[in-house]
Amino acid sequence: MPNAYISGTGFYVPPRVVTNDQLREEYGIDTTDEWIRQRTGIEERRFADEGNAPSDLAVHASKMALENAELTNKDIDLIVFATLSPDFAFPGSGVILQRKLGMCDEGHFPPALDVRNQCSGFLYSLATATSMVQSGAMKNVLVIGAEVQSAALDLSSRGRGVAALFGDGAGAVIVSATDEDRGVRHFQLGADGRHADVLSQKVWDTSKRPFIPQNADGVGQVQPEMMWAQMQGKLVFKHAIERMIGVMMQTFSAQGLTLDDVDLFAFHQANLRINQYIQKSIGAPEEKFLHNIQKYGNTTAATIPILLAEAEQTGQLTRGKKVCCVAFGSGFTWGAAIIDW
Ligand SMILES: CC(C)(COP(=O)(O)OP(=O)(O)OC[C@H]1O[C@@H](n2cnc3c(N)ncnc32)[C@H](O)[C@@H]1OP(=O)(O)O)[C@@H](O)C(=O)NCCC(=O)NCCS
Repeated sequence: MPNAYISGTGFYVPPRVVTNDQLREEYGIDTTDEWIRQRTGIEERRFADEGNAPSDLAVHASKMALENAELTNKDIDLIVFATLSPDFAFPGSGVILQRKLGMCDEGHFPPALDVRNQCSGFLYSLATATSMVQSGAMKNVLVIGAEVQSAALDLSSRGRGVAALFGDGAGAVIVSATDEDRGVRHFQLGADGRHADVLSQKVWDTSKRPFIPQNADGVGQVQPEMMWAQMQGKLVFKHAIERMIGVMMQTFSAQGLTLDDVDLFAFHQANLRINQYIQKSIGAPEEKFLHNIQKYGNTTAATIPILLAEAEQTGQLTRGKKVCCVAFGSGFTWGAAIIDW
């Protein structure tokens, strides 16, 4: 059985920076820099300009990952695209990315799969890619996490509890087959659908006829509570801590690892306070934790691949390092992976 390792990483964030103060001054949101920083650690985020969808951000991140892996479009056997903010209701963003990368023009038509697991989407996708590679079915899988959330945030005081948290961005990795003794050693995934309503965006509801209410002229009418994401923040916070510690310990025990064996922790970036709480409660050194929520906010499926790409770029993440990735998100869903880089 071949091992599945990460042969290349890439990331892209849109150039437009939106600080906490700008949320108040430009969007008129009743918030303060102090409130957001104290509770979440977020200082600023990136918003993509109109005309940019997640697949556009993903093109940049994918090209960087391909270049770093020294691979071309033709080497890719499968695209796995994780997002909660897909370009359209359907088709999935994976096929749109395939087209925008120029694969179709080159006569190359690899399968493309969308993964809808929100903040855990990257780890679910990594697990899928790893299994495909280890089974021998695929040699190189392009895994993307990309989000344009700014298009679907209620950027008003009414939506401040959610809007202050999220940003746009894309991260990509190539999962490749190797005979070398390295790669994804273990992954663990979980879900608890009892909490499906705790963090959700029900912009349409297919149990209704039609799925979006219409006015007398046949124009779709979406109420604010359907249009925008709804979240019970305190409940999410509590479950995130419990599940992230739980799933991480499961991977440690499956691999016979202790905290000292891990060189870097690449945790999902939902809230700096969640990650700091976990880091302190398990007694891990602060410097082993990668963070970028301060400058990007929560980029959902993109947080972990962006962290990995940035850490490679700065030289923090090098061959031989043992990395522990952990995520938790809407669903609830969660996951963890141990990777020997
Ligand atoms: C969102 C979160 C920071 C809110 O912190 P909190 O201490 O739980 O705050 P609450 O939601 O109880 O709100 C407290 C008050 O702050 C207000 N508030 C909410 N957002 C605000 C903002 N951006 N600026 C200022 N005030 C805000 C609320 O309206 C509320 O006011 P009230 O007491 O007058 O009703 C926190 O719950 C959290 O991080 N949860 C996890 C979220 C998460 O990880 N989501 C993604 C999962 S992948």
